[in-house]
Amino acid sequence: MSFNRMKEKVEYGDTVLVHVGFDNMLPFIVQKGVTHQTKFGAVRHDKLIGKKYGTKFQCPRGWVYIMHPTPELWTLSLPHRTQILYTTDISMVIFQLDLKPGSVVVEAGTGSGSLSHAILRTIQPSGHLHTFEFHEERSMKAREEFEDHGLSQFVTVTHRDVCGDGFQLEGVADAVFLDLPRPWECVGSAKKAMKTEGGRICTFSPCIEQVQRSCEELSKHGFSEISTMECLLRNYNIQFAKLQNMNFGDDDAEDSKTSVKDAEDPSATSPVKGDGDSGKNGSDDCTPAKVAKQEPEVTTPKSSNPKSKTTAGSSEVSSYCFTSAVPALPMQGHTGFLTFASLLTH
Ligand SMILES: C[S@@+](CC[C@H](N)C(=O)[O-])C[C@H]1O[C@@H](n2cnc3c(N)ncnc32)[C@H](O)[C@@H]1O
Repeated sequence: MSFNRMKEKVEYGDTVLVHVGFDNMLPFIVQKGVTHQTKFGAVRHDKLIGKKYGTKFQCPRGWVYIMHPTPELWTLSLPHRTQILYTTDISMVIFQLDLKPGSVVVEAGTGSGSLSHAILRTIQPSGHLHTFEFHEERSMKAREEFEDHGLSQFVTVTHRDVCGDGFQLEGVADAVFLDLPRPWECVGSAKKAMKTEGGRICTFSPCIEQVQRSCEELSKHGFSEISTMECLLRNYNIQFAKLQNMNFGDDDAEDSKTSVKDAEDPSATSPVKGDGDSGKNGSDDCTPAKVAKQEPEVTTPKSSNPKSKTTAGSSEVSSYCFTSAVPALPMQGHTGFLTFASLLTH
């Protein structure tokens, strides 16, 4: 009973996620007398009882974190029986299908239940998920998992080929989600399953040719607002930067003369400052949109060549400091295209 409400402490029967490392999470159900091995040594389930979720647990050769399950962590740690949807796409699906507490959703196929868990969190406590899977063992396993996670009252798992036999539901769904190789084959049946006042549909397909066929079929069945999107996760690094303002010299002939004079006088040259300078030396002034008169950033060693000093430094150089978001080079690759459409009434 741990997916349907947050709790403070571990009890027998809970599904816990043991965070062993950055990309190493171990999910299990806490049972009397059972032990799980990690690279830091044994985790004895009995010792977890009463521990607060989110706290460290000492193993013989290191420590792990005992995490409360959430759909996001489950997606990262669940046993894969199929390819799964990840949180980047899942969040867009939940948002675009307009899911909320009370929504009734039809899903095919269930697969490993990654998306199902996120849907179930969103539609509780009064909504329902009808999920369909034509692989018998997968549908049984999903049913078992929902039971173990305390979610079975919110979900009906049906073993069926929805392309051949349809959903066999009429006028119940607010939203339909299709993650199948040939989603266009069950668009008609999906439409029947939707409420007469209409709703939203989404198909997930890795290839654009599949997207084209789905769009054609959606349009044929009277769906509107058809749009396809691809969600890619891009990380940004936050960087603090400082630029010297350009001085072209003409308007400030007098100033620049002073600058040259200052630059020729070694005693007038300021000390070298790094990017990480803080406090007294002026980087507290590094707020966006503030142009501060600051000491110059001299990055070349003191030289006897006055010209290089002139360009490298003057005692009166203004600079502009700002925070920027720089995209990291590696970017997660393509997973699939999400095609959304609305059914207004039918
Ligand atoms: C990629 S998986 C779905 C993964 C799921 N969205 C998740 O996040 O875990 C596709 C599933 O659809 C099932 N499937 C394929 N064709 C089907 C059909 N005609 N009727 C029902 N299920 C089908 C497959 O057995 C497979 O388990």
